[in-house]
Amino acid sequence: MSKTYLVTGANRGLGLEFARQLSARGDRVLATARDPDSATELKPYAERIDALDVTDATSVEALGEALASETIDVLINNGGVFPGQHKVEEMDFDALADAFAVNSIGPMRVVKALLGSVRRSGPGAIPGVGRIVNISTQMGSIARADGGAYAYRSSKAALNMLTKLLGQELRDEGIICVALHPGWVKTRMGGEKAPLTPEESIAGMLRVIDGLRPEQTGAFLDYKGETLPW
Ligand SMILES: NC(=O)c1ccc[n+]([C@@H]2O[C@H](COP(=O)([O-])OP(=O)(O)OC[C@H]3O[C@@H](n4cnc5c(N)ncnc54)[C@H](OP(=O)(O)O)[C@@H]3O)[C@@H](O)[C@H]2O)c1
Repeated sequence: MSKTYLVTGANRGLGLEFARQLSARGDRVLATARDPDSATELKPYAERIDALDVTDATSVEALGEALASETIDVLINNGGVFPGQHKVEEMDFDALADAFAVNSIGPMRVVKALLGSVRRSGPGAIPGVGRIVNISTQMGSIARADGGAYAYRSSKAALNMLTKLLGQELRDEGIICVALHPGWVKTRMGGEKAPLTPEESIAGMLRVIDGLRPEQTGAFLDYKGETLPW
């Protein structure tokens, strides 16, 4: 049965490929982009494209209102930024704050605004419904932190914590929340040296999302379904 997916930052990169593969398999895509008018590649794959900047409370609230009567089976918090900050003496605190605003606080704003629509999907015990997927990264693993990228790593570690807590809070409602690492993928963020194509990463992540079980809520998984260390 066709399901409804909300994908943030769907105008390019992994978000665009989520939209493409979901629409190709007959699912309904509600997409967001900071500038919907320029999201030309996305248009064929999305039923609607709403404007969303996850750092802007008014923008997130407007999305919540626009989608208030929708049912969202799977909410994919995909939009993110990678500020390259590798030395403490080079720290740009505005960029550090922006990383937290986009990568950690933004997804929580979106969850809060759209939770009513996700709840309408029904309990996660029924395969395919009631899921919140926060696109994280293995670079947010504290166990694997081997230096550099302060802003990106710390903001995604915060996202992991928020995901774990959401999983606990929403567990009894049957909503499954996970943090998902896409692998290192050729996108504007991942760069040309990345070993994975968006097609491979998204195919893997969709397999993982489709197969999520209620007991996995709060987990930190990669695109192959392997559990990552916090
Ligand atoms: N590629 C990788 O190797 C890799 C690895 C691990 C994790 N990830 C994660 O995967 C997700 C997608 O990354 P990607 O590789 O597809 O990167 P990308 O090509 O740089 O795309 C990033 C997307 O996020 C959107 N975005 C940025 N700031 C936003 C904001 N304030 N509000 C809403 N959307 C915003 C961008 O919109 P604009 O076009 O308007 O800027 C764009 O659609 C990110 O969360 C990233 O951290 C990627």
